[in-house]
Amino acid sequence: MHWYLLLFVCILICSTWVSNVTADAPYFVSAHDLAVLSSIRLNNELYEIYLSSAEVRGMQKIRVLVPRDYATTGANRRYPVLYLLHGAYGGATDWTMAADAQTITSNASLITVMPNGDSFGWYTNWISPAEAAPQNWRTYHMEKLVPWIDANFRTVATKEGRAIGGLSMGGFGAIRYAQQYSTNFSYTFAFSGALDLLDSRMQQTILNTPYNGKPFLGPFGSPLEPLGLNGWFAQDPITHASSLRTLNVALYTGNADSLELIIRDANNRLRQALSSLNIPLYFNDYGNGQSIGYGCDGTHSWPCWKATLIDVLPRVMAVLQQQ
Ligand SMILES: *[C@@H]1O[C@H](CO)[C@@H](O)[C@H](O)[C@H]1NC(C)=O
Ligand SMILES: *[C@@H]1O[C@H](CO)[C@@H](O)[C@H](O)[C@H]1NC(C)=O
Repeated sequence: MHWYLLLFVCILICSTWVSNVTADAPYFVSAHDLAVLSSIRLNNELYEIYLSSAEVRGMQKIRVLVPRDYATTGANRRYPVLYLLHGAYGGATDWTMAADAQTITSNASLITVMPNGDSFGWYTNWISPAEAAPQNWRTYHMEKLVPWIDANFRTVATKEGRAIGGLSMGGFGAIRYAQQYSTNFSYTFAFSGALDLLDSRMQQTILNTPYNGKPFLGPFGSPLEPLGLNGWFAQDPITHASSLRTLNVALYTGNADSLELIIRDANNRLRQALSSLNIPLYFNDYGNGQSIGYGCDGTHSWPCWKATLIDVLPRVMAVLQQQ
């Protein structure tokens, strides 16, 4: 008799406990042509998820930070989303491991999504992927991953609830995605962004990166193609400056090494293009880093991108809508 009573009580309590656990933890499902391969919860706020997509070759890692109160605020509370893109030679773990994005965003009511974009994927659908096909990074990120995130997290799934930013190659990616999906994002920022694809010094820098056996003319083709066929022209952020008209834009650059000097020129050119179109911009040239602090020395390096993430976050949060 006692034994049955105990079992009955346990069924009541244990099942409540189990349903609480499943209600609290995001339960990831395949959707929008993305298959969930596996996921782990690295700590209370940080998830690492492996996806596969027909748009890009191989397993795709993403990291997602949820707000501290995500598990307890209930089914009707929705949060805005920040997409953070990594740079060349990087991956999905960079922002949390090299810039401590978890601590920096820890007080924000925000979901932060950090996708893999391949070490040299350039956030574009490659013109000539050859045997590395498919390399449709834009389609994967913008047409598949964004709606997958909205299907798997309690997001504000509108322009007003989305921001996208990144560093270096990822700064280029963020500005290009914002230009091509201007109805889906309200804020975009680039830290040391590779923003002028028509600058031959930037073309050389990009063409000199190791493509790990993939064709180095893959992302944009040859810069010598006529303009009409030229992927560098087609994907150039400055050429498409007017597409940023409905967004808030922030650009950050330093000046303390040779790469950052090329990048500063590019940032100044986008600044001029936006200014001639009367598109508002927050522009921060922190020079040798002293004005922005946190150990930034003005070079193309993580202490600066950590400092700029700290600086940009309240600007982004002031614009993004909560629900
Ligand atoms: C978060 O808020 C706590 C309490 O107000 C504060 O001590 C901490 O410095 C904040 N952290 C960040 C990264 O802003
Ligand atoms: C992006 O905006 C377009 C046009 O408003 C809309 O059709 C599309 O569903 C949006 N995408 C997402 C992922 O919200």
